[in-house]
Amino acid sequence: MPSTLFSLLLLFLLLPFSTLSHLFYPPDDYLINCGSSAASTLVDHRHFSGDLSAHHHHRSPFSPPPHALSLQNNNPLPNSPPIYHTARVFTSPARYTFPVSDKGTHIVRLHFHPFTTPNLDLGLAQFHVLLNAHVALSNFTRLLSDATNPSIVEYLIWVDAEKLEIVFVPNKDSRLAFVNAIEVISAPKDLVPDTAQYLSSSKLEKFEGLNKQALEVVYRVTVGGVKVTPFNDSLWRTWVPDDGFFRPSVGSEKLYFGGRINYHVGGASREVGPDNVYNSARLIRSKNDSVPNVNMTWVFPVVGGYKYLVRLHFCDIASISVGLLYFNVYVNGNLAYEDLDLSYVTNSLASPFYADFVVDGGDGALSVGVGPSKSSMPHVIDGILNAVEVMKLNNSRSSLDGEVCADLVMKSWSTRNNTGMLFTLVAAVCIVLSLSIVIRRRLIGSRESVSWSRLPVNLSDDSVKN
Ligand SMILES: *[C@@H]1O[C@H](CO)[C@@H](O)[C@H](O)[C@H]1NC(C)=O
Ligand SMILES: *[C@@H]1O[C@H](CO)[C@@H](O)[C@H](O)[C@H]1NC(C)=O
Ligand SMILES: *[C@@H]1O[C@H](CO)[C@@H](O)[C@H](O)[C@H]1NC(C)=O
Ligand SMILES: *[C@@H]1O[C@H](CO)[C@@H](O)[C@H](O)[C@H]1NC(C)=O
Ligand SMILES: *[C@@H]1O[C@H](CO)[C@@H](O)[C@H](O)[C@H]1NC(C)=O
Repeated sequence: MPSTLFSLLLLFLLLPFSTLSHLFYPPDDYLINCGSSAASTLVDHRHFSGDLSAHHHHRSPFSPPPHALSLQNNNPLPNSPPIYHTARVFTSPARYTFPVSDKGTHIVRLHFHPFTTPNLDLGLAQFHVLLNAHVALSNFTRLLSDATNPSIVEYLIWVDAEKLEIVFVPNKDSRLAFVNAIEVISAPKDLVPDTAQYLSSSKLEKFEGLNKQALEVVYRVTVGGVKVTPFNDSLWRTWVPDDGFFRPSVGSEKLYFGGRINYHVGGASREVGPDNVYNSARLIRSKNDSVPNVNMTWVFPVVGGYKYLVRLHFCDIASISVGLLYFNVYVNGNLAYEDLDLSYVTNSLASPFYADFVVDGGDGALSVGVGPSKSSMPHVIDGILNAVEVMKLNNSRSSLDGEVCADLVMKSWSTRNNTGMLFTLVAAVCIVLSLSIVIRRRLIGSRESVSWSRLPVNLSDDSVKN
């Protein structure tokens, strides 16, 4: 009996960290362990189903590319999650199709963790990835040498159709693409709003249609705290500590708050940012009769030539009363907020609030600054920041990675066949050639246990050209 009581008590104590933080149930929720027939469960309790087993079923929830090779790593790194022990390998363009039941923003995460087998070195793969009509990655490569940690790329994509397609197109030189795991998850409706503010040196104006842009998460940073893992995040995100981005400044300090975060309608929801992110911060504190004349500054290296969404998260976990904290907020040195009063927008302490600014990533770095304003007072807190997210917006070619649009990426694979009239003349030669290739491949195939060179083309050349 006492042990039952004890476990009940334990359950109660653990409830805020496990059950409550995972209350969001996405209508579309595809978690795929690529190249595997087995399901695998992560530390955050999520089940990734294998993509090999699925295509035997007629009513499979998603259609994986049927002919691509699956590869197993027989020497995985110790403690590496099982989703990284297998990969799907593509030697020609291949497509995953996910039916979408809930139109709107979807979170797409792709996991890449290259490994070698006696027959294949995934570190040599170089490829492009398309998400519907957007280019997500071009000429992407992940060298084995820097592959101690998996690379997880995350996108927020507006889906207005019945399906979401993820297409892997090998680069013509490497002829090799791979992926270890895929997540496609409906986003909560409040995650990406329709509007933000566009901020530049000359103006602050409304930016419309934010949620229709393709967004790539470039940085997701929790300020003053420890790393937050998918286990403790309502949307299975990772938030890294800010130490690498913060420019040390005199008079700032870190703060951890052990109390309850008060989520309010109109402020940030738990899906926008979890408790573990809002319960830490950096702040500027006035310890005597003067307001410190300093800024806290964070610098984020970015690729120029794109617009970026900078989402700033605030939660006053430090003041002793409402109405005492006033500060200025700068993005790229431009005033984003003057005399920001968190208690005016949230009405209470420890209540989260976020603000979205779209800015130009001009000279290769974005900066965020927080400092006292003309309303700041001595002997109290004079500036605070809890978290920052930086997301890249697609450019005018609908690309998040370069100037080549999705159509041309597809054509880059099929240009060899685009010879018009010449095609018929060449066809006869081709048949002879391909016969000899088939014979050669048979010979190669019989010598090697991995038969990837014999795989059929997944997308027909017609569909590639479209
Ligand atoms: C990939 O790199 C090649 C060579 O640098 C370049 O010609 C091509 O345009 C790139 N492809 C994409 C889709 O960016
Ligand atoms: C989750 O958060 C709790 C409380 O902050 C922490 O003690 C625990 O280590 C975290 N768990 C993981 C897996 O990150
Ligand atoms: C308050 O403290 C700062 C350093 O912490 C010092 O530079 C400043 O002169 C002090 N101001 C007063 C009025 O004592
Ligand atoms: C804080 O940053 C803003 C914007 O870059 C700048 O105008 C201001 O002078 C800075 N204040 C201090 C004390 O450095
Ligand atoms: C992103 O792509 C869409 C088309 O899919 C386009 O309308 C929009 O202008 C692009 N965004 C930017 C910032 O260029």
